[in-house]
Amino acid sequence: MSQTAPAPTKSRGLEGVTALDTQLSAIDGQKGELVYRGYSIEDLAKNASFEETAYLLWKGELPTQGQLDELNRQLREARPVHPDLLDHLRHHTPKDSNPMAAMRTALSMLSAYDDEADTMEPEANYRKAVRLTAKLPTLLAAFDRIRKGKEPIPPTQEGSTASDFLTMLNGEAPGPAAEAIMDAALVLHAEHGLNASTFTARVIGSTLSDMYSAVVGAMGALKGPLHGGANIEVMKTLIALDESGETAQEFVDRKIAAKEKIMGIGHRVYKTLDPRATILREMLSDLSEEKGETKWLEMSDTIRTTVKDTKGLDANVDFYSASVYYLLGIETDLYTPIFAISRMTGWTAHLLEQWEDNRLIRPRAEYVGPRDKTVQPVGERS
Ligand code: COA
Repeated sequence: MSQTAPAPTKSRGLEGVTALDTQLSAIDGQKGELVYRGYSIEDLAKNASFEETAYLLWKGELPTQGQLDELNRQLREARPVHPDLLDHLRHHTPKDSNPMAAMRTALSMLSAYDDEADTMEPEANYRKAVRLTAKLPTLLAAFDRIRKGKEPIPPTQEGSTASDFLTMLNGEAPGPAAEAIMDAALVLHAEHGLNASTFTARVIGSTLSDMYSAVVGAMGALKGPLHGGANIEVMKTLIALDESGETAQEFVDRKIAAKEKIMGIGHRVYKTLDPRATILREMLSDLSEEKGETKWLEMSDTIRTTVKDTKGLDANVDFYSASVYYLLGIETDLYTPIFAISRMTGWTAHLLEQWEDNRLIRPRAEYVGPRDKTVQPVGERS
């Protein structure tokens, strides 16, 4: 009996297309809910550390104390990077490089120093996921210090990812509030279904290419301002607005009249407020009070409510995270690579899932160009 092929479907931007099953996260775009492996994002942000969340994503369950201790030991042990990588950042990476570009290249180089880079056994891939998550903060902090003419600070071999990263970045251990905020921000950004960078990672992984290749591709996708790059653009917007004297209301009206996008607003999946933005707003509110600096919160709130009233669009994860990082004293262009430090866990968890039951991801494009042309000798072409 002959089978009829399913009717071809087409969706620009793959909007509304479900490409695969995942056990990693569920997003309800109408209700504004995000769940990692059955746990709400609110619960995890409040009650689980970034390392516990990473374990949950990679292994499917929250770790016991013993499992968490073991993961922390593995992460700490893996934090140092080969001296060649630091030399590369010191001598062969221009100081004014885009940090996402510098990290994309450094991640690619890491594979040359990993004996297991091309080993596809699940346990080896898990070990690589841990190593990638451990090393990216070291590379990013080193790059930031080197570009400022300072020596990189080696990883502490103790403490959480959040605390170690801030220590390597600033040369001093963060206070408990800053560490807790950074840790929660890492939890919030860890996983989000088939977003552009995760999809990129899974497409690369589906060719049975290696984990390094997949996360380098994912870095490239995350860099774009329509994806992870939006958090940098949000802060640039707020700073420009603060300096311009224009009110937030005037700014929104002008952007909408010009049909220009306001960064940190809108989402392909959420048709209401992104639940991560709610948590980040609370964090920003606490931080603003603590620092006695409320203007970023006030400007953000005005922009958000004005766009909501005018266009019915709400804030996404990047909207309030920008000001949170700003008040933590972090350089604006590091916001997207910090997103990558967190999302590394989601990317690698998706790759582990992809390889459990791999199928090449290979959609079609509908050809809409000319047909039936014939090649003319080159001298006869006009
Ligand atoms: N500012 C102003 N208008 C926006 C907007 C924004 N940030 N995002 C969407 N819109 C408007 C579009 O102009 C369009 O309006 P129209 O119907 O009047 O033409 C409508 O909303 C649909 O937008 P569209 O771009 O088709 O939606 P999408 O699903 O492709 O967009 C994003 C999703 C995320 C790409 C988009 O909202 C965006 O560019 N946001 C800013 C970048 C950002 O913050 N990215 C981080 C996402 S986590």
